[in-house]
Formats: sequence, C-alpha cells, structure tokens
Amino acid sequence: MKSSLAIHLLYEDCILAKLLTLQCHAFGGIISAAHDRVPNVNISHQFRAMDFISSNAASLSPSLTLAVTNRAKEMKAKGEQVFGLAGGEPDKDTPENIKQAAIQALQNGATKYTPSAGLPALRQAIADKLKRDNNLTYTPEQICVCSGAKPAVYSALRATISPGDEVIIPTPYWVSYPSMVELCGGTPVYAPTKPENGWKITADEFADAMTPRTKMIILNTPHNPTGAVYSEEELRAIGQVAEDEDILILADEIYEHLIYGEAKHVSMAALSPELYNLTITINGFSKSYAMTGWRLGYSAAPDAIAQAIRLIQDHTASNATTFAQYGAIEALKGDQSFIGDLREEYDLRRQYVYDRLSQMPKVKIVEPMGAFYFFPDISATGLDSLNFCERLLERYKVAVVPGIAFGNDQAIRISYCTSLDVLKEGLDRLEDFCRKL
Ligand SMILES: Cc1ncc(COP(=O)(O)O)c(C=O)c1O
Repeated sequence: MKSSLAIHLLYEDCILAKLLTLQCHAFGGIISAAHDRVPNVNISHQFRAMDFISSNAASLSPSLTLAVTNRAKEMKAKGEQVFGLAGGEPDKDTPENIKQAAIQALQNGATKYTPSAGLPALRQAIADKLKRDNNLTYTPEQICVCSGAKPAVYSALRATISPGDEVIIPTPYWVSYPSMVELCGGTPVYAPTKPENGWKITADEFADAMTPRTKMIILNTPHNPTGAVYSEEELRAIGQVAEDEDILILADEIYEHLIYGEAKHVSMAALSPELYNLTITINGFSKSYAMTGWRLGYSAAPDAIAQAIRLIQDHTASNATTFAQYGAIEALKGDQSFIGDLREEYDLRRQYVYDRLSQMPKVKIVEPMGAFYFFPDISATGLDSLNFCERLLERYKVAVVPGIAFGNDQAIRISYCTSLDVLKEGLDRLEDFCRKL
C-alpha cells in the first residue's frame, strides 16, 4: 500500500475490490480497497470474474471527494477530532414545510409509480420556476425529473453523445463529468482554464479546443470546485462560438441560488432562441433547498432531446421517488426564505475564509463568487495536491479535497458548508501546516 491514507471501502465484493485497488494506484494510492479483508477469496474465480467487467466500468476511477470524506468519517468514528472542510452539501436540514409535504404525501398513499419524467404537477412547478427565476420558457413535456442532478446530467449525455463524439470539459471540472462522458462512449476533451481569467473558459479557449468531432461543451455556473460565476457577457461570447459551430451546451446550474456580491446568475438558454435550441439546462433541489439525500434533480431541453431523455429514463430509472416529488413541489411553490438565509450565511463564511486565505503563506486564491467552495493554488508548497491533503488530514486532522480530483493537481478544494467555528479551527491548522512546509 503506497499511502497512509488507506480508505477501507465497504466493498466486500472481491471483484470490485481488485478493480478499485488497480484504479487507486493511478491516484497515488489515496484509497486502498480492502481485498485483503475479503474472507475466503478464491483467486482463480476472482480473476475470471474480472474478465467480465465491461471496458466502460473498468475505466472508472473512484471519487476522490468521497474518498476524503469517507476517510475523515473513519477517523471521526475512531474518536479523532477531524475538521471537515471537504463536504459538498449544505450543513442545514431540509426546511420543515418540504418535509411535511413529503410526509403528507406518504400518508396519502403516494407510494406508486409516477410518469417516468415526473409528476405533471412537479413538472409544471419546475416550468413556472424556470420562467420566474431564469426567464426560460419550457413546457412540462420538456422537463424530466430525475433522482438528482447527477442522473439528470447522465441521461442528458446518454441522449446526445454517441461513441466517438467529443465533449469539451473546462478544467477544473466537477468530478463526475469525464466519467459520465466516457460511460457514453464519448471522449472528454479537457480545456484548462486560468486563475487569471477567474477559472472561466474564454470563447477563444473554447474555439481552440474544438475539433470536427466536438458535439458538446459542459458549462457549470456557479462552478464546482472554483466558485466561478460566468457573466452574461462571457456566456454570450461562448454561446456565439457554440452557435457558429452548432455545438450543444450542457448548462449545469445546480448552484444558481448560491451567488454573492455583485455576481448574477445567468442561464445560457435564456440568451437567445438559437442558444435555447442548443442548450440542455440541468438543475435540482440538492443545494438550494438542502435536499441532497432526497435525490431530486431535473433537465429541461428542446423537444427532441427532452423526448430522448425521457425514453432513457423510461428504460433505466423510471421515476424519481414519488413522495419525494411532492416535497419538491412544496420546495418550489412554498416559502423561499430558506434560500436567502442560506445565501446570507454562506456569504459571511465566504468572506471570512477569503480574508484568512488571502493572508496565508504559500496559498494563492481567486475570490469565488458562487457555490460554497474555494480553490486555492498550493503549488508554492512544493507538494502535489494529493500529498498535501494526505499530510493535512493525517497530521493536522483537516479534511480538504485534492485538486487532482477535479483535474488540477496544484490546488485544493475547501468547502465552507460547515460552521464558522470549524472553519476557524480548520484554517488555523491549515495556516500552521503551510507555515511549517
Ligand atoms: C456541479 C454539480 N453538478 C451536479 C451535482 C449533483 O447534484 P445532485 O446531488 O442533485 O445529484 C453536484 C453535486 O455535488 C455538483 O457539484
């Protein structure tokens, strides 16, 4: 085992364990699958089973974001105090009115299938929300409710990407985009963004990454992991390139409400009828309403694409959990003050973390204007991101995510969806660590 940061994964299946061990070496050994813990493994059987793994599945790597949070949880379970700055979900409970709506639905017997694209009333509520918040006109038939924004992205890719198609992914990127593109037989084409451009891809960089096989670009604003927010002008410039070359845009807007200062969220599909016809809008309930565990997200797309997405959902997931969908209706139609309160609180934390990181030795940052992350450059420490995170966790008990998980090995992701007290202690320790390097 190469690393002290051995994650004992819960996989008791020897095939997966072997697979993960192989994959983990590629990541410097941050995870060591516990195939040594699997009792009575018949080795020849194990190797035969490996032969049955599809090339698609064999190419997958475990999620490093989950690896770090799992390792931190494991340390906590052993009684160690860990300062978790790695999380990707709001540290709030789902608002009570939303919970009550789901409980009521359950009590009313909402325990059967819904149409696979979702309850008509929920799709109507989403259409109303997209009009109200995003100036987007979609009919309920253009909307597909999925079990989270993640499957919404995957179904959208399944509906549009054929083997050989290239998908431009600006780096750093949200961890799952490349794997999802590969699972569809597509080829991710990485377009590195620069901190001096606020970690945002420019229209020229987009054009440079294009080849005759380019089918799509994935744009995520506000952005995970950098917190970047694209302005209308920047989106228009990128949109113009997409329009000139007939490139689809997958617009992941899951963090739309977590936006600070002067920044404004703009939806790509709202910019022109041409861009509307080229864009698949992805959104969901996880971040804005603290509903990560409910597993609810959606896509909104031009008719033909929406129909293909619906067909894929018909034959794979069927519908998102029925009573959860009733909670989602309440989320969209009920009191929205939760979102404003969350934004306000997160903005205070953001400013605190910004002040602290700005003064920290060997750390360079770009001010994030959205989501709940910082993506500081730590290259001045001389450590790669994985090494940095391992040492920080093992020696200083602070969990952050290595930038390599997002395609950039010179940075780390710090999340501020935790209390100011935890942030303060975590940052004190981070500062101490950086000073001593
Ligand atoms: C950019 C981005 N898109 C999509 C998702 C998935 O959200 P969900 O929990 O709704 O599947 C996440 C979750 O972290 C995310 O950061």
